[in-house]
Amino acid sequence: MSAPRRIAVIPGDGIGHEVIPAGLAVLTRAAESGGFPLAFEHFDWGCEHYRRTGRMMAADALDRLADFDAIYLGAIGAPDVPDHVSIWEMVLPIRQRFDQYVNLRPMKLLPGVTGPLAGRGPADVDMICVRENSEGEYSGIGCLDADGAREEAIFTRRGIERIVRYAFELAARRPRRLLASATKSNALRHSMVLWDEVVEQVARDFPQVSWRKYHVDALAARMVTAPQGLDVIVGSNLFGDILTDLGAAISGSLGLAPGANLNPERLHPSMFEPIHGSAPDIAGQGIANPIGAVWAGALMLDHLGAPEAARRIEHAIAAVLADGDVRTPDLGGHATTADMTRALAARLP
Ligand code: IPM
Ligand code: MG
Repeated sequence: MSAPRRIAVIPGDGIGHEVIPAGLAVLTRAAESGGFPLAFEHFDWGCEHYRRTGRMMAADALDRLADFDAIYLGAIGAPDVPDHVSIWEMVLPIRQRFDQYVNLRPMKLLPGVTGPLAGRGPADVDMICVRENSEGEYSGIGCLDADGAREEAIFTRRGIERIVRYAFELAARRPRRLLASATKSNALRHSMVLWDEVVEQVARDFPQVSWRKYHVDALAARMVTAPQGLDVIVGSNLFGDILTDLGAAISGSLGLAPGANLNPERLHPSMFEPIHGSAPDIAGQGIANPIGAVWAGALMLDHLGAPEAARRIEHAIAAVLADGDVRTPDLGGHATTADMTRALAARLP
């Protein structure tokens, strides 16, 4: 057996404490049966830590996280802590400090899941978003005073180039080889004009990929009216954020959707999380769908070099959903997180 991969586990808040243990149970089983040992170290950072200490994470948290092979995150946020505090002291600093500039989010309607789009099935909804995750509208630069507020979006040529190139490379490896670029250069006359220019330049290196640009509003509509024509979507930080909640919704449930925050050069740890939030409305009831977290765990195994274990988990997810016997409330059933976790583990070969 090889040396264990070291994973920092941060359940965070709310249902993070329910879905992360579920994810760990499934991951451990899939990885160890494949001779790929994992060593987990838990961190109790999040809003409870904030109430106790006035900080979301330990002061040296980022330095400590730097030594891990990956970070496995649940969800962050609680009703009594302002989101801009919790998020800006935790999720966004981790993404930025470790230059996790790719936020990769599959949006796929799996067989057995009923999506909200009438007449659409799994063959119609199968896309993946490549979201810029390090700059853009989330630069954090600006000010707020009595007269108003100013929020500055930072788009560097290098930042756009690297995310767009990643997206084209991904599109070139997928069977349909389609790419849609989300823009808004009709209104955002500086940043998105540069975005379009860079997309056009990078596209020249990928003649095998058919690509189009869409204004983000039109693209949102298209995801609903003609999702079958979409494959890889590349967008800025904010556009990608919005489109991936829409993508999760048309895939049947926010509870199913995984996300990977990647530093593709592997100079720093990457972070894996379900895209849903801490869901205070259902936290503590044991009914959260763990599939988003489990699937995020599969993306983590893939990134760490255990693609077979990742595929085993993805097959288990597909099999349980296709069976349809075990469904958490978000999928219209009455199963608990524990029921779903057991069903997934039982489906691992
Ligand atoms: C997400 C979340 C975050 C984001 C929030 C919590 C800042 O919505 O991961 O999509 O916008 O990136
Ligand atoms: Mg979001």
